Amino acid sequence: MAAKQENLAAKIPEIVLNSGHKMPVIGYGCGGSKAPPMEELISVYVKAMEIGYRHFDTASFYGTEEALGKAVAKALEIGLIQNRDELFITSKLWITHTHHDLVLPALKQTLQRLGLEYLDLYLIHMPLRVKQEANAFELKEGDGLPFDMLGTWKAMEDCYKSGLTKSVGVSNFSCEKISKILENATIPPAVNQVEMNVGWQQRKLMPFCKEKGIQVCAYSPLGAYGKSIYGSNAVMENEILKDIAASKSKTISQVALRWIYEQGVTPIVKSFNAERMKQNLQIFDWQLSKEENDQILQIPQLRVANGDIFIIKNGPIKSIEELWDGDI
Ligand SMILES: NC(=O)c1ccc[n+]([C@@H]2O[C@H](COP(=O)([O-])OP(=O)(O)OC[C@H]3O[C@@H](n4cnc5c(N)ncnc54)[C@H](OP(=O)(O)O)[C@@H]3O)[C@@H](O)[C@H]2O)c1
Repeated sequence: MAAKQENLAAKIPEIVLNSGHKMPVIGYGCGGSKAPPMEELISVYVKAMEIGYRHFDTASFYGTEEALGKAVAKALEIGLIQNRDELFITSKLWITHTHHDLVLPALKQTLQRLGLEYLDLYLIHMPLRVKQEANAFELKEGDGLPFDMLGTWKAMEDCYKSGLTKSVGVSNFSCEKISKILENATIPPAVNQVEMNVGWQQRKLMPFCKEKGIQVCAYSPLGAYGKSIYGSNAVMENEILKDIAASKSKTISQVALRWIYEQGVTPIVKSFNAERMKQNLQIFDWQLSKEENDQILQIPQLRVANGDIFIIKNGPIKSIEELWDGDI
């Protein structure tokens, strides 16, 4: 039996997506550098469920689908959850498979790795396409391919219709790209998962998505603190947040996550540490004042995950400005 401790799952509110399905307002991030070996990773995910996380965010690119699937099986076996439908599981289509004919097979492979019959949410990871054999960490001249956004979205709609995913959405999409999808879609994206934190507040995209009924999910809510690829200390070492946290007897991460939640956005946060996992869920029984919100608005803005590693020499996307349609 799992060790007895307070399970915070019941304290996490849910929102209803435009697909009609419910999603817990905070998710656990299964992405990131320096993942431990499989058995350890499975224990980390089981621990996250034991603490109370019910919403998990993975992707084929992260290489963590199999560990998450094994953790779900373990949680069922030890009685942490009674049914798979107590969990909300997101995965993502990687840029090697953003082509109409490759989407459904990619989703089926994802489900196979997870050992699940359906996803709760399937996202296009990025509005880009590269050759299937390309290494995303070392993209080179000739790897880039034109991205047929509407054809790929059509295949996402087919995934939804097949019942293999309960909702479909996008990630790292600008207002312009979302508008184009909405003009042509029969099923609108339920979610746009983007970087959002006090240091990159998504002042253009957030109100746009809200108006269109698309839920924004915030990745790197702590600025990807300590992450080797693009991690930043802009959130966790911010003086304004430090002062607010001290005055409320909260931690900086709690203030950062609470601010996102108060914007109507759902944070996806990663921690391998049980105490920090727990701390990150304790944001629902207190609030920020108007003065504190005004102070947070003064924080200088800079996109941390600017996508520069995806700009390929002579490729179809020439600059980060083009990748984000100028919202940079
Ligand atoms: N769609 C996309 O393109 C995309 C891109 C990036 C990320 N994501 C998703 O978003 C998730 C979260 O983003 P992220 O991993 O980039 O960054 P993050 O959640 O902003 O930051 C994670 C880092 O913060 C540390 N941390 C967590 N809680 C803490 C606390 N209470 N106090 C101090 N440090 C704390 C973690 O270290 P410890 O583990 O040591 O606690 C880890 O190094 C990812 O795992 C992934 O699922 C999606």
